[in-house]
Amino acid sequence: MTAISPHNGPVAVTGVSGFTGGHMVRELVLHGYEVRACLRNADSWRGRDCVQYLNRLPNVEIAGGCDLFVPGSYDEAFAGCAGVFHVAAVLGNSADGKSQPLGSGNVSTDVYEGGMAGTRNVIDSVNRSGSVKRVVYTSSLAAISGLAPPPMLPGFAWTETHWAPDHFEPEAWQHPRQAYARSKVDTERLLNQSADASDGRWDVVTMNPAMICGPVLFKAQVGQWIEQIGRLAAGLDVTWPTPYDMYYNIIDVRDLVKAERLAAESDVDHRATNGGSRYLLHGSGGRSALRLSTEVAGIIREGFPSFVVGGAAAPDGGPPRPAAINHSRKAMSLLGATFRPVEDTIRDVVETSVELGIIEPRLRPEPEPPHTP
Ligand SMILES: NC(=O)c1ccc[n+]([C@@H]2O[C@H](COP(=O)([O-])OP(=O)(O)OC[C@H]3O[C@@H](n4cnc5c(N)ncnc54)[C@H](OP(=O)(O)O)[C@@H]3O)[C@@H](O)[C@H]2O)c1
Repeated sequence: MTAISPHNGPVAVTGVSGFTGGHMVRELVLHGYEVRACLRNADSWRGRDCVQYLNRLPNVEIAGGCDLFVPGSYDEAFAGCAGVFHVAAVLGNSADGKSQPLGSGNVSTDVYEGGMAGTRNVIDSVNRSGSVKRVVYTSSLAAISGLAPPPMLPGFAWTETHWAPDHFEPEAWQHPRQAYARSKVDTERLLNQSADASDGRWDVVTMNPAMICGPVLFKAQVGQWIEQIGRLAAGLDVTWPTPYDMYYNIIDVRDLVKAERLAAESDVDHRATNGGSRYLLHGSGGRSALRLSTEVAGIIREGFPSFVVGGAAAPDGGPPRPAAINHSRKAMSLLGATFRPVEDTIRDVVETSVELGIIEPRLRPEPEPPHTP
């Protein structure tokens, strides 16, 4: 039996200075776990901000110096743990934009090689711990669909049975633009093989989330999609990954980390389920393809009617609405995962961005009083 509970001992979380990692620690603490919070660098601005937040939570022990590139750097943190939530990843936006002090300097090389080397190092530390029974891995929808997959027929639904390399020509799959998706596919496979090779000592459950959004717990978490939603609420235009309009397929970070905890605690034989030991998490509130400049901006306008709301540059005719249906049926039925309305997610990004001083909203001009003759 590899399911875990707070009674089995501490659990470790990697990448706690990030958006998902910070929320993962919070979720576990709120459900009675003792947490070893693995941090790369407590002295970076991000590390310091994170430590300040974590110090306010009970039952959290901060483990510094945990770098994906450094073999053995997770050994101490994992020793005696029942579970590991492996959330950290080498992403282009880590730390203060300088990214990886131990990397090659090339972002796509670091994203792929760092993902592989980091996961190998995490696996080695799990094996050395002698106590870890379950690893919960945060992969991505990118491992299922790849980046910008070819158009699918209307009604097509991504599921846990899909693997990204199957949708691309081999050359396109090796292109640096797919480095992140490749890293997620190959790390998922590496974890599955290593769990099998552990002879039942530990197993792995993988989560495949889409665009992770939700409330900001501390300033250093800001980046990616939540930064862009904040920009809209501050009356600014979006900048990343493109200044052009696009569709958002959102998963609320609170729903994601709850699903991760439920996966760790579940008695389901994850390997025997359809698509294997992985769970797709996307399409929050059934609104799976939200056009940024109209639908996301519209939700902000409705929730914050006095704010000037920014936008995105319009490509000719606007992007075509994706034909695929997005749902998370497997996670709902097997794990009991729940999904809140996406309007709540977007409102909470904006509220916390204002509260933490990340954005400064601009007020719309007062309407002219009605003209009386
Ligand atoms: N954001 C999304 O929409 C999305 C969607 C699907 C999947 N995911 C996956 O979800 C996970 C969390 O993503 P996120 O958006 O929450 O990321 P994030 O906020 O950028 O956080 C990334 C975390 O990884 C850590 N990290 C980076 N390089 C490291 C290294 N060499 N050694 C140790 N730690 C390192 C960062 O630490 P520093 O502060 O030290 O840099 C940070 O704590 C990742 O695995 C990502 O691939 C994200």
